[in-house]
Amino acid sequence: MKRLSLILLSLALPFSLMVGCGQSGSGSADLQARVDSLQNKLDSVYKPGTGALMNTIVQPHHLKLWFAGQNKNWALAEYERQELMGGFEKIQLYHKNKPEAAAVAMIFPAMDAVEKSIRDKDAVAFKSNFVALTNNCNTCHKALKYEFNVIKVPVTNSFGNQSF
Ligand code: HEC
Repeated sequence: MKRLSLILLSLALPFSLMVGCGQSGSGSADLQARVDSLQNKLDSVYKPGTGALMNTIVQPHHLKLWFAGQNKNWALAEYERQELMGGFEKIQLYHKNKPEAAAVAMIFPAMDAVEKSIRDKDAVAFKSNFVALTNNCNTCHKALKYEFNVIKVPVTNSFGNQSF
């Protein structure tokens, strides 16, 4: 019995190796096809441009941050500050090799100052730090030759359906 199993094993082993090799050959072609198809999918994934991120994240949250701070609604102000920060982080993530990703860090000290005034619930400091933040928006626009995109401290609240 033992001998029979040894014989069977010695027959089966080379056979299974052959099958194994065959599989790994077609397996790598299959893998390459899957990598290619994933690469195709990645290439066609929608990545919002910097202009779109400015429009849909940075601009509205800059405005909402202001009105939350003006109303001393500090919890909302901190939320809006984080959302605004998310917009800047997305520029770093989606536009890694572009000048705007390298320039984004210039606004972080101003963002930190706003964060501190929110934490301190200091309306006076909030106001001056927000003005400084807004100046920084324009510094970056100028640095990247978009100086015609001029940002100002919001005057009217365009989000009439939200309580600040
Ligand atoms: C990293 C530098 C940088 C910083 C910091 C920055 N921006 Fe921009 N912003 C840009 C660039 C670059 C564009 C033009 C992008 C494009 O059109 O492709 C732009 C465009 C805009 C636009 C025009 C969008 C449109 O379609 O009309 C608005 C509004 C804007 N930014 C708001 C802001 C505000 C508000 C801040 C500050 C809270 C800010 N930006 C900070 C780089 C910056």
